[in-house]
Amino acid sequence: MRLQISELKEPDYPRASEIVAVSVRTFWLDHYDPTVIEAVVEQNTPERIGERSLRQDDFLARQGGQVVGYAAVKQNEIGHLFVRPEAAGQGVGTALVAYCNEVIRQGGYDTAKVYASRPAIAFYARQGFLADGEKAFELKPGVFLESVLMTRPLED
Ligand SMILES: CC(C)(COP(=O)(O)OP(=O)(O)OC[C@H]1O[C@@H](n2cnc3c(N)ncnc32)[C@H](O)[C@@H]1OP(=O)(O)O)[C@@H](O)C(=O)NCCC(=O)NCCS
Repeated sequence: MRLQISELKEPDYPRASEIVAVSVRTFWLDHYDPTVIEAVVEQNTPERIGERSLRQDDFLARQGGQVVGYAAVKQNEIGHLFVRPEAAGQGVGTALVAYCNEVIRQGGYDTAKVYASRPAIAFYARQGFLADGEKAFELKPGVFLESVLMTRPLED
């Protein structure tokens, strides 16, 4: 089925929010404490996504009329990449990363970076990203999301 990637608009904030919630509650279960998972869900309400979209470019992936993925770009950083579990393993994540890389390249950067969640490290490695350090984000007092900084050079 054809995948379409387009800018996230306000009417779709609830869909992006729902994808984040269902994605982390599925994919992160064996990797992060439930307090971390629920803190990520809290940070991705439709309102928070709307506030964030003022400072970054957000994208939605659709397949056959269904919203199946969400991703964001801020300067040369890919963030908030989440795929609906029912649509996983079909190339949606790969297509979103390729799209974000192109947005970053057109922004004049020669390197893309991402703070990868633990379960996504192997995925990004397949997309040509290499680990370049570690960072823990304090999502709320005492709740830390551990991630791995990964970078990838972009072609001209
Ligand atoms: C990581 C994620 C975005 C991948 O999305 P996806 O649409 O399933 O990925 P794709 O179908 O494009 O997969 C591409 C390749 O990576 C592999 N892959 C996907 N997830 C993987 C994982 N967790 N570990 C190892 N390999 C993985 C696939 O098997 C596929 O391999 P192939 O090219 O040999 O077929 C998705 O699992 C997700 O939303 N995870 C939870 C949120 C998250 O951690 N996001 C990253 C935040 S930094």
